[in-house]
Amino acid sequence: MSDIKSLFATRLYHAKLSAHGAPIDPSELENSCLVIADEDEAGQDWCEENGFPGYTSYASLSDLPWRFPIFKDLVAALDAHVAAFAEDLAFDLGDKKLQLEDIWINILPEGGIHTSHIHPHSVISGTTYVAMPDGASAIKFEDPRLAMMMAAPTRVKDARDELRTFFYAKPAVGDVLLWESWLRHEVPMNMSEEERISVSFNYRWD
Ligand SMILES: [Fe+2]
Repeated sequence: MSDIKSLFATRLYHAKLSAHGAPIDPSELENSCLVIADEDEAGQDWCEENGFPGYTSYASLSDLPWRFPIFKDLVAALDAHVAAFAEDLAFDLGDKKLQLEDIWINILPEGGIHTSHIHPHSVISGTTYVAMPDGASAIKFEDPRLAMMMAAPTRVKDARDELRTFFYAKPAVGDVLLWESWLRHEVPMNMSEEERISVSFNYRWD
């Protein structure tokens, strides 16, 4: 009998946001995101100047949890999710903690994409899903070793999740995904006529 192990694992955490913290009403969160986007003229200007499809608060609002109680509740829940993921990752955090670095709103209209990227200066990144209409895109993760595989064959279509070169997660409203911040990901085109709304965040080790 042979022994084949999986080594150097890339972990992807997928849970219901409601598994930790006070319950958060998805429609109230959606409404808050829309109101904030509507009032954030600096953010709208930034998106327009930078050719960003739809809206992000990333460049304009750095204090969502302090301004809006629902975001304070959200961060309290996310803190617990991140702590659970850190345990799964067997992180030895010593006397430092994983704490929120940034949290921001994304509103992706029909035809919008977020191209491939990583989240520098962070340890754990993630997203919670606020509005995912039918046809809204998944999130696509890329094998971080891709550059080392130039001579390797591609994988069969039904390869096990952990053997895929790309993995498409299909989160539902109220789900939270977490991954290590170095993992490259992208949001393929939103094929729905409706907006795809999510809240993303970074945690640093400090
Ligand atoms: Fe991202």
